[in-house]
Amino acid sequence: MFRVSQFMHELVAPTPPGPRRDPPGPVVIWNLIRRCNLACKHCYSISTDKDFAGELSTDEVFAVMDDLKAFRVPVLILSGGEPLLRPDIFTIAERAKAKGFYTALSTNGTLIDPVMADRIKAIGFDYVGISIDGIGATHDRFRALDGAFDASVAGIRALVEREVKVGLRFTMTMDNAGELPQVMALAEAEGVGKFYFSHLNYAGRGNKNRLDDASVQATRRAMLTLFDTAWSHVEAGRQREFVTGNNDADGPYFLSWVRSRLPDKVAHIAAKLVQWGGNASGVNVANIDNVGDVHPDTMWWNHTIGNVRQRAFSDIWPDTSDSLMAGLKRHPRPVEGRCAACVHLAACNGNTRVRAQRVTGNVWAEDPGCYLTDEEVGI
Ligand SMILES: C[S@@+](CC[C@H](N)C(=O)[O-])C[C@H]1O[C@@H](n2cnc3c(N)ncnc32)[C@H](O)[C@@H]1O
Ligand code: SF4
Repeated sequence: MFRVSQFMHELVAPTPPGPRRDPPGPVVIWNLIRRCNLACKHCYSISTDKDFAGELSTDEVFAVMDDLKAFRVPVLILSGGEPLLRPDIFTIAERAKAKGFYTALSTNGTLIDPVMADRIKAIGFDYVGISIDGIGATHDRFRALDGAFDASVAGIRALVEREVKVGLRFTMTMDNAGELPQVMALAEAEGVGKFYFSHLNYAGRGNKNRLDDASVQATRRAMLTLFDTAWSHVEAGRQREFVTGNNDADGPYFLSWVRSRLPDKVAHIAAKLVQWGGNASGVNVANIDNVGDVHPDTMWWNHTIGNVRQRAFSDIWPDTSDSLMAGLKRHPRPVEGRCAACVHLAACNGNTRVRAQRVTGNVWAEDPGCYLTDEEVGI
């Protein structure tokens, strides 16, 4: 994840660059259920409206949670499928909060009526991310349900009214790239404090539909729009957060943006980008799926490194006998092609290995989703 607003605050009030600080344990994104009331075109978990066999029981979830706590995992992101379809979701969330995890909910928002909003508020979720992939019919087409947009916006409103910290998440493809400004405007109009811009990753239905990924030009335009919008908020002193995900080239591209606007800040931002360190899959981000399989991150459901029913997460995660995990944990990663030659490798860490593997079959090949020019990467 690239924290755009945080980097922009470095332009205004720089803090000294230091060594990279890794959190004690990884952030765990936990897909507690695969069932979903939607069937989005890009969905990495290939979720749909049916039951999936073999999902972890409440007691199994609790046992894993104890292990995660002992392993010093700081953050649990409860996700799915649609996590609000799990009958015990609030029991699980309550326990996560009681154990002291920063507890987030990742939801499509369609099921959040006033009663559900009251329950979410009562649990005290630290953050709720709701996906909006376009305005009106664009979102409904992308998410394969008429009325989904209105229901999700109603869910956002219900939470904002109750002062729950909400973020709006937008995954961009050619289907919705033109609506980025309107979706950002919607977030602002609805009083949503955080905007998460996600690039498409090539997993699940997102891989099947990868030909609809945003073009390089559309991506570059979108990033400039995002940077300019985020900067206008910083300049006006408004507390709004912009972050991006699934493309660590955003860091180096932000450096180009800084170079063209505030050239005297380039050296500082370059040092801060190296401190950030780019892609964190298999290192600071982990995934447990609905049946307890552990993956280097959510986009790696085609690669399992263990199952929490057979072996504790705390045992699975540090084990580098898996060659993918060994490579992800190496510094620098054994990337090839443009990524190996890139002057920004220390900042981006070779970007998204899933896309490389899906497109070329070689997990260490250059990321085909990198939208920087040869000149920008120093070739
Ligand atoms: C799998 S969903 C689960 C939570 C909930 N059902 C939702 O849609 O928000 C979690 C997030 O991953 C995003 N996502 C799913 N597949 C993706 C892909 N292939 N690339 C990038 N983001 C993806 C979704 O848009 C959503 O914001
Ligand atoms: S992205 Fe979320 S809402 Fe869409 S099908 Fe997947 S799990 Fe469901």
